[in-house]
Amino acid sequence: FKQKTAYEIRLSLVGSEMCIRDRSSNAFEVFIWTYFMTYIVNDSCIACKYTDCVEVCPVDCFYEGENMLVIHPDECIDCGVCEPECPADAIRPDTEPDMEKWVEFNRKYSEVWPVIITKKDPLPDAEEREGETGKLEKYFSENPGEGG
Ligand code: SF4
Ligand code: F3S
Repeated sequence: FKQKTAYEIRLSLVGSEMCIRDRSSNAFEVFIWTYFMTYIVNDSCIACKYTDCVEVCPVDCFYEGENMLVIHPDECIDCGVCEPECPADAIRPDTEPDMEKWVEFNRKYSEVWPVIITKKDPLPDAEEREGETGKLEKYFSENPGEGG
């Protein structure tokens, strides 16, 4: 079962569950269950924007707003490499409860903000704002970042 084929199927079936029967071998029938998921950035990123995450992403799917980043859910290949890189613990898998809102939030802004692949300095109040609650209501900006 070629990786390229799996990737192409993934692109067309993001968010769904499916079963693939591979009959390419006479000796075996291979059943593969795959749940397509993504990682997302939540409001813990807001007003911090450490950007450690962008350097490890193999598919460059982080997008930059004025004071947070988002992940494009259709581009993320679910490798999980970015999750432990975030000092603010803002990157979560969408398998956790009540993540639909954050998947759509990430999708919405990743389609209008520029891609970011290079780490830059965190926002000036990053350490002070880390762990604060209610950041979406208090600080979120829809404005794009500079990207880069
Ligand atoms: Fe990129 Fe992997 Fe993180 Fe998805 S899980 S955003 S592909 S590093
Ligand atoms: Fe935001 Fe964490 Fe990346 S704070 S910019 S998700 S490293």
